[in-house]
Amino acid sequence: MSRKYLFPYELIELNWRFWSFIALLAAGGTLALLYPVPELNGYIDPLYSPTVLILPIPTLFRLSCYAYRKDYHRHIFNHPLGCRNTQRGEKHTEPYTGERNAVFQFWNLHRYFLYAGIALLPFFYYDFYHSLVYSGSFELRLGSLVLLANALALTAWVFSCHAFRHIIGGNIDCYSCVYGGGARRKVWSVQSWWNAHHEDAAWISLLVFISTDLYLRGLSAGLPIDFRF
Ligand code: FES
Repeated sequence: MSRKYLFPYELIELNWRFWSFIALLAAGGTLALLYPVPELNGYIDPLYSPTVLILPIPTLFRLSCYAYRKDYHRHIFNHPLGCRNTQRGEKHTEPYTGERNAVFQFWNLHRYFLYAGIALLPFFYYDFYHSLVYSGSFELRLGSLVLLANALALTAWVFSCHAFRHIIGGNIDCYSCVYGGGARRKVWSVQSWWNAHHEDAAWISLLVFISTDLYLRGLSAGLPIDFRF
């Protein structure tokens, strides 16, 4: 009888791209932790905002996002095996496992990581606010707008999440039978449109997040890339 799951030791047999991906993540995470960006002129790097205290949770939230899963499973891990293609990560002699192996099962916890993602959003807006008033009076600078762009991009990504769509109305068969009725259906329809662009939101938010971190690293290195409006 065929097994449904890969054992952890079998992951070692996945192709070199799998381990390159893991090595890249580990190297990036270690470097970011070794070289934190100090608070500078009221700017707090989004990577070291409260997220640093609970780094594994937002990391797992992002890694388990369906948009990234699609890309790294298809293009990096070559998994799951969909045909008799021997170039794929699974052994072609093994039966098709679909999304039933242990890694996929773990990624299904994404729906719970979403709550942590939502809880973190206000901190990014607080960092934006803090940068406006840190000197004691209101001051609008380019860096503040960068922080705002990061907060907005993260918000667009989190609220277009598939799991959020399910919470709003994806689990309802009859809107007129439940609390919120038509209003809830309208919210669900708007979020569904947004959800269709989730992959774009996921990648844009990641690029904006990294750019924000690099921008603040540039500032702390003394580059003249900030100005007051
Ligand atoms: Fe991408 Fe939930 S599916 S954040």
